[in-house]
Amino acid sequence: MEKIRAAITGIAAFLPDYILTNEEISRMVDTSDEWIMTRVGIKTRRILREPGKGTSDMGAPAVEELLRKTNTHPDEVDLIICSTVTPDHPFPATANIIADKVGIKKAFGFDLNAACSSFLYGLSVASKFVESGRYKKVVLVGADKMSSITDYTDRTTCPLFGDAAGAVMLEPTTDPNAGVIDEILHSDGYGRVHLHQKAGGSVKPASHQTVEAREHFIYQEGQAVFKAAVAAMADVAVEMMHRHQLTPETLAWLVPHQANNRIIEAVARRMELPREKVMINIEKYGNTTSATLPLCLWEWEPKLKKGDNIILATFGAGFTWGSLYLKWAYDPK
Ligand code: UT7
Repeated sequence: MEKIRAAITGIAAFLPDYILTNEEISRMVDTSDEWIMTRVGIKTRRILREPGKGTSDMGAPAVEELLRKTNTHPDEVDLIICSTVTPDHPFPATANIIADKVGIKKAFGFDLNAACSSFLYGLSVASKFVESGRYKKVVLVGADKMSSITDYTDRTTCPLFGDAAGAVMLEPTTDPNAGVIDEILHSDGYGRVHLHQKAGGSVKPASHQTVEAREHFIYQEGQAVFKAAVAAMADVAVEMMHRHQLTPETLAWLVPHQANNRIIEAVARRMELPREKVMINIEKYGNTTSATLPLCLWEWEPKLKKGDNIILATFGAGFTWGSLYLKWAYDPK
């Protein structure tokens, strides 16, 4: 029997309208465009500002656009997975809320949280459902409203994050020149001390004290995370190249998690890849956590060709990290 692989057959994204600039952030905290550009590489990020709107309000339009682009009726979708660290509510799953908003009624859905590696883990999980042969159309959404957990009085974290959503359709293929080929996934819970949200979970439920102590926001020890991210992302990306005898010539694209331009450059250097083969849009959107990878693929979609060898690589809280190798499944439309 021919091997079934999961191929990305369409991609869509949603970006909120509001553009938060470095100039505006410099009026909130003691920072500057120069510091943020030199140390991180971000100029602007999008923010979902409308009160009462959450992650599903970005995921739903991304999925609607995906269904339109792939000519899919909502009833055809078998499964919807939402990768996110900022769900609309602790429960139920944001995947179900997105499904309801776009009229997907015959699918089952769940959320997946692996911090900044959520979309990469999601691609791995979604692929397994497709590879089983039982599920024909799987929607994977990567969406985060990072502004809901960002402390705009903390200069060490507030310039870094933005809001966005991206969605892909995964379908079975037996074409050996298309689909998800391999993945390397890791996690190490010890790393949680360096990057987490202190309150709001079962260990420390919300209380007046937790709110006053600003414990519902991102806590990050930047340097420790930076060092771990460079080493881990580069290791798994290079290991993937070796495993499949990929060279800087035969690899078409690196799609790295967009947390810091310096991390991306260091990973590309270890892979000996020229900058033209690295998808980088951190300058415009910042770190959108679960949405960084689909936002890159979406922006670069017009340049992607069938059979392109692509490595995705991430690093995030947990720690979680990994790389995934796929062959792009279609030519520009
Ligand atoms: O996506 C999830 C995974 N997250 C990451 O991958 C993020 C990894 N970490 C990083 O990207 C970087 O560590 C940061 C961008 C968070 C920070 O950059 P850094 O070069 O590691 O800076 P630092 O934390 O070592 O701070 C250097 C200095 C400090 O001042 P002193 O102690 O040297 O006087 C900070 O207080 O920069 C100061 N600083 C700032 N100055 C102006 C920190 N944030 C700012 C700021 N503006 N926004």
